[in-house]
Amino acid sequence: MAQNRAFVMGHPIAHSRSPMLHGYWLKRCGIEGSYERLDVPPQDIDSFFSGFREAGWIGGNITVPHKTAVIPHLDHIDDAARKMGAVNTIWWEDGVLVGGNTDAIGFLGNIDELAPGWDKGKRAVILGAGGATRAATYGLLSRGLTVALCNRTVSKAEALASHFGAGVSAHGMNALPELIAECDLLVNTTSLGMIGQPPLDIDLSPLKKDAIVYDVIYVPLETELIKAAKARGHRSVDGLGMLLHQGVVGFNRWFRIKPEVTGELRQILIDDI
Ligand code: ATR
Repeated sequence: MAQNRAFVMGHPIAHSRSPMLHGYWLKRCGIEGSYERLDVPPQDIDSFFSGFREAGWIGGNITVPHKTAVIPHLDHIDDAARKMGAVNTIWWEDGVLVGGNTDAIGFLGNIDELAPGWDKGKRAVILGAGGATRAATYGLLSRGLTVALCNRTVSKAEALASHFGAGVSAHGMNALPELIAECDLLVNTTSLGMIGQPPLDIDLSPLKKDAIVYDVIYVPLETELIKAAKARGHRSVDGLGMLLHQGVVGFNRWFRIKPEVTGELRQILIDDI
């Protein structure tokens, strides 16, 4: 049986850029192995896991719509996945099938690389209340920031704030100007600004001069929000590195080598956007 087989599993899955990422690292690290794209519709999840051990998978990435549905099939889930209610990476530990969530590590690795020293700031404002919001919130709390969640549907922000507890507050969009004026980091985790979506149209003028603007979107690489932040002289962080840095963690868990985020890899992904 083939060894060293990892995967990304979702439905649909054709759009995933993870095979490009892990394929690059496998080649660069000289590892004989594969990272395969698996289209698994929701009704096939049970049969996928019933043959999982025998299939010889060393692990993989889980993506939409299975990030929560896989949880009952795993032996153990880590703290990040539990807190986020979603698993994006699974791997073996001494025969135990573990699920984790590497999105917060990816979120932090990206900003650590592109805006060093950012975490001297104390207050973050996050726009949105979806899956990416959970990862950003978990990551920022772990670095000691307080988080103000701002969302069109306030009840979703409130549900997240009560889920995370101390350090997280919930607000409607009308509170944004006031929150923006006090924050050190502004993060967009809504889908606004993504290709095919309207831009996120907010006034950045109340932002402090040294505040950092982070958009988790990477298609396009430079959203209107990032352009506006740059034009105002703010340090900015796009979402591509979040994909790269979360990938590092998964690759290391499956193939036991920590791969490098190279400029060449970044360029390969940018050329594909
Ligand atoms: P994901 O899980 O990928 O993070 P999601 O759960 O679909 O994405 O969340 C999308 C986010 O974008 C939500 O916070 C959504 O706001 P609502 O909770 O009010 O739906 C936000 N969003 C999407 N379209 C929006 C719009 N036109 N105006 C404001 N917010 C919008």
